[in-house]
Amino acid sequence: MMILVVFISVLVLSAAFFLMHAWRSPMAMDAIPGNLGWPIVGETFSFLSEFSSPCGVYSFMKKRQQRYGKVFKSSVLGRLTVFMTGREAAKILLTGKDGIVSLNLFYAGKQVLGPTSLLQQTGEAHKRLRRLIAEPLSVDGLKKYFQFINNLAIETLDQWPGRTVLVHEEASTFTLKVIGNMIMSLEPTGEEQEKFRANFKVISSSFASLPIKIPGTTLYRGIKARDRMYDMLDTTIFKRRNRESFRQDFLESLIKKHCKDTSEGEDDKLTDTQLKDNILTLLVAGHDTTTAALTWVIKFLEENPAALERLREEHMEIQGSRKNGSSLTWSEINNMPYTTKVINETLRIATILPWFSRKAALDFEIDGCKIKKGWSINLDVVSIHHDPAVFPDPLKFDPSRFDEPLKPFSFLGFGSGPRMCPGINLAKLEILVFIHHLVCRYKWSPLEKDDSVQPTVVRMPRNKYPIIVKPL
Ligand SMILES: *[C@@H]1O[C@H](CO)[C@@H](O)[C@H](O)[C@H]1NC(C)=O
Ligand SMILES: *[C@@H]1O[C@H](CO)[C@@H](O)[C@H](O)[C@H]1NC(C)=O
Repeated sequence: MMILVVFISVLVLSAAFFLMHAWRSPMAMDAIPGNLGWPIVGETFSFLSEFSSPCGVYSFMKKRQQRYGKVFKSSVLGRLTVFMTGREAAKILLTGKDGIVSLNLFYAGKQVLGPTSLLQQTGEAHKRLRRLIAEPLSVDGLKKYFQFINNLAIETLDQWPGRTVLVHEEASTFTLKVIGNMIMSLEPTGEEQEKFRANFKVISSSFASLPIKIPGTTLYRGIKARDRMYDMLDTTIFKRRNRESFRQDFLESLIKKHCKDTSEGEDDKLTDTQLKDNILTLLVAGHDTTTAALTWVIKFLEENPAALERLREEHMEIQGSRKNGSSLTWSEINNMPYTTKVINETLRIATILPWFSRKAALDFEIDGCKIKKGWSINLDVVSIHHDPAVFPDPLKFDPSRFDEPLKPFSFLGFGSGPRMCPGINLAKLEILVFIHHLVCRYKWSPLEKDDSVQPTVVRMPRNKYPIIVKPL
């Protein structure tokens, strides 16, 4: 409901603007099939009412695709946008061939994430930043954080028996501690961690906020929290640059690295602004999505006892073949084939990011429809993930769908192309470790039956998935 109120307010506030400019679609858009709905609000209401249902915007898309085809226009969330679906559209939009599209963030996101963020850069600058973060996020680069993640998972799960566990809250705390440690060696407890967490929560909630930047608004508070977070980072960066402290973490490797491969001296290095913008981006991009993924995996396993049983066998076997008293090892993590499929199948059904938003950077044609520069384009991932030609009986949870390699661009749980999720290995590592300890120790049952989804950009269970655990 909150978000509905928010969007109604956005729409009312921007009404004047829309009336003057944009509700009537540009003439060029007349050729695109689709219905723009009511003046100003467009089809926002039917879009939002379906967004929170278990299948999300699936039927919203399906109805319109049946009527109009794979490319149609609509007006949702205050934006005139062209929706597209299908593997062909995914290929064109995600590989961004010849730079035909760029990322399309909402106003609040642009304000909070700085201008030098990976998410706001294009072309060469984007590639350069990607290269910089690729190494610490590679499988080898992650190895040194394994022990921290393993211990933290065990400690977190130690606290679970005998109380109501809100899985989403626990997953959020877990992933935030992991990323804080990786980025700047933040201790999992203590004052610094608390400050970090408090600021992060405010920043995170400001993303779906009203585009108004005056004292008291969510966006304003988000920007203030961002500034406090940057102050924390400034202090740490200052110490590192002056060799007052040395830690082998992400920040250190970014400080040391040159921006380009050629060494043209100091100018090549990332500036403090670039460092901070991109560290914040990693935090934001890595936290909510991984948290949601872990929560959905735990929920779907409980709802699919056969899959849970098979997955537990995999982990019991790993545990059983281990010497007494020793804990999970790095090499065991890399050999959990069934669990990996469970993660992919979870991301397929949950479709944590239901659409990818892009902006046409030049005119191009797709499916016979002429797209003009500047238009908003949303790739509808939900329909791609429910395509019965690729995933028969698409609503069924069935990890064996991933036994064989899939057709390209049919599974987009981590995106694809040059903007594919750079944190894929980290996300998988966190989930594998956590799930291993969970299924080896506990069985769990949900405290309420509610499949509705929180109306935020990242899809997650609205009730935070409350459970109660018992030792096996
Ligand atoms: C592990 O411990 C059990 C008893 O606690 C013992 O019977 C078994 O032989 C031990 N196995 C190994 C490999 O040390
Ligand atoms: C899961 O999805 C990722 C990303 O698309 C892919 O690289 C990987 O091979 C998939 N894993 C399995 C077991 O299908």
